[in-house]
Amino acid sequence: MTLSVLGIACSPRRNGNTTRLLLEAMKTVQAEGHMTELVYLSDLNINPCQGCNACSAKGICIIKDDVPKLQEKLIQADRLIIAAPIFFMGVNAQAKIMIDRMQPFWARKYLHHQSLIKPSGPERIGLFLSVAGTEKVDVFKCAERSIQTFFHMLDIHYAQPCLYRGVDQAGKIIEHPTALGDVRRATQALTLS
Ligand SMILES: Cc1cc2nc3c(=O)[nH]c(=O)nc-3n(C[C@H](O)[C@H](O)[C@H](O)COP(=O)(O)O)c2cc1C
Repeated sequence: MTLSVLGIACSPRRNGNTTRLLLEAMKTVQAEGHMTELVYLSDLNINPCQGCNACSAKGICIIKDDVPKLQEKLIQADRLIIAAPIFFMGVNAQAKIMIDRMQPFWARKYLHHQSLIKPSGPERIGLFLSVAGTEKVDVFKCAERSIQTFFHMLDIHYAQPCLYRGVDQAGKIIEHPTALGDVRRATQALTLS
């Protein structure tokens, strides 16, 4: 079965570490014969959630920007790969702003009891790729909770993530002894299961 895999690059650094990992993942997906779509958040106009709760009425946000297009892609995807760096011990702001704007999905699911997924589609699975500059043991803790909650709301199973500490300079991740290979294997597992 051909899967559609959506990759979202959240870092503002196009030549950065998380985007490099995501490109490796997308190349792997293509080599496995599946369809890919890569979205760079930095190309989109996404405003922060205002907490107005207007979406509670019908599950539709009143802010006019690129989020509805992204929501449609998130509904259609069979697999999701989110690549986001750690900024101040959490996901970077661009990633968090995107996640907060998914509140209409929360309203649809929990207030209106609407399903967000195709009834006949495969189980949805998501992979989180992240890189942090420091070696702190708990550096991915907050980011993982945000991404897990985001995936849970979208009925996406949280696969074993690929998380790398102590990599700061843009592009340095290619020198990591296991990162690229890990990501290739994790992506293969994502499309096999
Ligand atoms: C504003 C900012 C905040 C950061 N905060 C942290 C942090 O709290 N902990 C950490 O380990 N690294 C932190 N870093 C370093 C990044 O996580 C690191 O440079 C990472 O490789 C960036 O990934 P990217 O190249 O995909 O953007 C921060 C970097 C920036 C620019």
